[in-house]
Amino acid sequence: MRVVALVPAAGMGVRLGENKPKAFVHVGGSPMLTRAVRGLIDSGSVDEVVVMVPAELVAETRALLPDSTVPVHVVPGGAERTDSVRAGLAAAPDATLVLVHDAARALTPPALVTRVVGELRAGARAVVPALPVTDTIKSVDATGAVTGTPDRSGLRAIQTPQGFDAELLRAAYAVGTQATDDAGLVEMLGATVHTVLGDALAFKITTPLDLVLANTLAAHRDT
Ligand code: C5P
Repeated sequence: MRVVALVPAAGMGVRLGENKPKAFVHVGGSPMLTRAVRGLIDSGSVDEVVVMVPAELVAETRALLPDSTVPVHVVPGGAERTDSVRAGLAAAPDATLVLVHDAARALTPPALVTRVVGELRAGARAVVPALPVTDTIKSVDATGAVTGTPDRSGLRAIQTPQGFDAELLRAAYAVGTQATDDAGLVEMLGATVHTVLGDALAFKITTPLDLVLANTLAAHRDT
């Protein structure tokens, strides 16, 4: 089985407020993208990595990637995250298992990658890392008025890497409407998506506060 990790890194990161695409913002002295790729490789569970970046940054990205015996390819991403993942899938024709892992989850522990791949190897066709939610979640209407309070015990916050049988993910992308995660497209096909326990360190660096937290954590990890 050939495990290929696709790393969407083509987002502009407007919410982070830095003057470069988010995946190229440094955390503890290294670009998020470099850290995310290193975590995948350090898991020992990945045979190949494909990174999707803004088209104008393809050449300079190669210099940022860690030296490794695992081949790492860089291809242009697209306007939406799903376009970037679709470009990555096209660059990984030999994959039997596919991981999709946000570059913005730069501090994801390698053990989480191993957990997801282990579940795929055990026979699951779609696997996502999940954590219980700590806040109460409410739905609201267009005016902001609350319309419901779902039972929190049945809710999970979903992270990456998300793992899939490659054929299943290709089928999901062939139907291909937009979704906020890859498993969402697989769910539209009616396939079962399994969960494994996520990790708080796999949080997505989205806001300036996330970046402060990530820099603090990276400083501890790297010393
Ligand atoms: O914007 P958001 O934080 O949801 O992005 C999640 C991941 O998807 C990031 O790593 C980002 O670089 C990537 N992305 C992408 N192509 C886009 C938009 C986002 O690869 N067009």
